[in-house]
Amino acid sequence: MPKIIYVDHTGEERAIEATNGETVMETAIKNSIPGIDADCGGACACATCHVYIDEGFMEKVGKPEDMEQSMLDFAENVQSNSRLSCQISVSDDLDGMRVTTPESQH
Ligand code: FES
Repeated sequence: MPKIIYVDHTGEERAIEATNGETVMETAIKNSIPGIDADCGGACACATCHVYIDEGFMEKVGKPEDMEQSMLDFAENVQSNSRLSCQISVSDDLDGMRVTTPESQH
């Protein structure tokens, strides 16, 4: 099972055993990770699941689709490594990935 490490804005880490095929957002919600509200339930319509991806995993995660990119265009504190966690499926390739939640979501 791949492990996803959620890091909050203070640097506190929570390592979670994730299930392949579920999204990084779903895994966060199931495990009550603070800073990921996912108001729209994963429909790519709220950006409350915004996270910063570990630079070392950017290539594996890939680029956002157009719909995700347009949501990110309106999100707060967007950086070059910003993604919506509801659009990232967990796989073994992402084992050990750290995702950080923006301070504005806490
Ligand atoms: Fe709403 Fe990801 S959960 S955009």
